[in-house]
This record gives sequence, C-alpha cells and structure tokens, in this order.
Amino acid sequence: MDVIALDDPADVQIREWHGVLTAVHAADPAAEPAPDPERTARLLLGSEPGARRRLWAVTDGEHMAAVAALRLPGEPGTGRPAEIDIRVRPEHRRRGLGGRLLAAAAGGLRADGRTSVIAQVLAGTPAVPFLESHGFECVLTLRGMLLRLDDVPAGHVARLLAEEHAGYDLVRWQGVVPDEHATALARAKHAMADLAEYEGTPWDAHRVREMAEVVAKRGDDLYTVAALSGGVIAGFTEVVVPDGCTGRAAQYDTAVVPEHRGRRLGIWVKAAMLEWLAEARPGVREIETDNAGDNVHMLAVNEELGFRMERESMEYQAAASALPTVP
Ligand SMILES: CC(C)(COP(=O)(O)OP(=O)(O)OC[C@H]1O[C@@H](n2cnc3c(N)ncnc32)[C@H](O)[C@@H]1OP(=O)(O)O)[C@@H](O)C(=O)NCCC(=O)NCCS
Repeated sequence: MDVIALDDPADVQIREWHGVLTAVHAADPAAEPAPDPERTARLLLGSEPGARRRLWAVTDGEHMAAVAALRLPGEPGTGRPAEIDIRVRPEHRRRGLGGRLLAAAAGGLRADGRTSVIAQVLAGTPAVPFLESHGFECVLTLRGMLLRLDDVPAGHVARLLAEEHAGYDLVRWQGVVPDEHATALARAKHAMADLAEYEGTPWDAHRVREMAEVVAKRGDDLYTVAALSGGVIAGFTEVVVPDGCTGRAAQYDTAVVPEHRGRRLGIWVKAAMLEWLAEARPGVREIETDNAGDNVHMLAVNEELGFRMERESMEYQAAASALPTVP
C-alpha cells in the first residue's frame, strides 16, 4: 500500500475516493448526510475561491483504502490554520494508514508555511483517540442541535417577531452581503470572539465576501437576516440551504455585537429567518446548528426556538511542529 498525492485527480480516482467516503458513511450513517458523487467531484476538482486543497490517498495501485484532504484557506504562509479530513475504510483501520496520511498532510502543511491544523470530529468516535495520539488537542466542544420545523408550535415564530424592538429594523439578503453592510457585518462576525480566538484571523469585509462566494461556488444558497441600529448591523444570523436540498438546512453564524446584547436581538433575527425560509424555501424542514458548549446565551436562544441536542463534536488543533513526519 502506497501513499500517493493527487494533484490532478482522474475520473477513476474520483470514483475511488467517493467509494471510500461511501464505505465510511455506511459504517456510521448517523454521523453525517450520505456523500453525493457530484459533491465529491466538486470537492476534488473545484477551485474554491480563497482556498487551495491538497489530496492524498493510500492505494494498492487499483483501489483506495484511505483518503486525506487538506484545505489551505488564504495565502501560503498566513497564520490561518489548515483543515484536515482523513477517512479510512473500516476494514483497513488500525493498521497505521490514518497516521501515514497525517504525516503526508503534515508535509503539505509545512510546505505551505502553516503553523497549525484543525480537525472537526464527533465525540465518542475513533477520530478522538486517533488525533490525541498524534499531537492534537481539543480547543472547542460543539453541541450539534436540530430544529424540526414541524415541531415548532403554531404562532411561536409570529409571537417572537411581534416583540417590541424600538430603534431596530430588520434587513435581509441572499448571497454576498450588500456593500453598505460589509464592514459592519465583519465587525459583527468579529464579535464571535470565542470562535475567532482559535481561528486567529480577524474578519474583514474581504473575508466576509469570500465566505459567501465559497458557499455560492458549491451551489448552495446563503440567507442572512440582520438587525440594524442607525443603519449599522447590531446582530445577524445566516442559514445555508444546500444545493439539491432534501429538507435540511444549516445554521451558519449568528452574533450580536456587545453593545446591543441583552435585548433579545439574537432570537428576533432567528425568528425572522424562520419566517423568510417558510415563504422562500418551504422544502426546508430541519435546521442543524453547532454551538460552542460554553456559549450559554446562544444555547438558550436555540432552545427557546425549539432546537434539540443531537450530538456532540469537537474541534481539535495541532501545531505543525507536533505532527508526525514521513519516515
Ligand atoms: C480516525 C481514523 C482516520 C483513524 O484511521 P486509522 O488508519 O485506523 O488510524 P491508525 O491506524 O493510523 O491509528 C493510529 C493510532 O490512533 C489511535 N486510534 C485509532 N483508532 C482508534 C480506536 N478505534 N480506538 C483507540 N485508539 C485508536 C491508536 O493510538 C492508533 O495506534 P495503535 O493502532 O497502534 O493503537 C479512522 O477511524 C476513520 O476514518 N474514521 C472515520 C472518519 C473520521 O472520523 N475521520 C477523522 C477526521 S480527521
């Protein structure tokens, strides 16, 4: 079994890669939605704006046993951590393949001048001991929550929307933020200090637009609702409806800037989002979200809306210097 780099994957290699994702999903179907061949091809071939990707696989020359994708956001040598995702076919686990791919990816990480890498994994899965035995540390615990729209009592959203918010107006847009709100949105995103801390990268208008372009490039739709005070964003919430949505949308960021907190703006913008999706995307029946385990305010907002805990995941991070090297 050899580790190979896939700089320019051929069709047969894309099919093999997808086969690995399908086998991993079949072994643990509850972990995430079933992989989709077109999405796999886009991931391997697509040039995502603002990020590059490097790929490796373990193969016997014909079939792939394991794959690794390293996402490199921003320019080489920037302080932004890379993101790693490794998948090993269940029947090939505990033979060191994951470790060999991690060593190959660590080489790619160093070659790109990165100092660290992050991985998001589910609590209680083999990924946890795997990462911990390779120099990773848990930097964030996330609670995966799900809102089933059919379970939201009639009138609940309308009651939340009817709450008085003197001095604030709601505004909404689809896709990239309108120019007049770009800087204020970046500032509001920066208010999510708990996440910004480990990402180590400040939000600016450029990065805000880049994130929306990444979503559009994947074929997904980004919806944003914001509360304005004096024309400036005081709080906002984002939901992404995936391409070919089969009912589940994903909550992205929600934040209220510090001087506007404590006025129920968070739940207000989220209620307005639910009303918008009901008219614009009636096919959306569920919304999933990840909340930092210590973010008590956001958890309270989501529970009041009707979100229920589904699973716990963790963000792990390692310094490039702590990672294994290819022997
Ligand atoms: C996590 C995963 C990539 C590990 O791949 P792997 O090829 O089995 O890992 P390795 O054989 O290189 O394991 C190296 C070490 O990790 C630890 N480890 C890996 N799996 C483990 C498990 N199930 N239980 C306990 N320790 C484990 C052990 O210390 C192991 O060394 P050992 O076998 O000598 O005891 C694989 O289980 C997988 O694909 N899981 C599903 C996808 C996923 O969660 N990916 C993680 C995202 S980065």
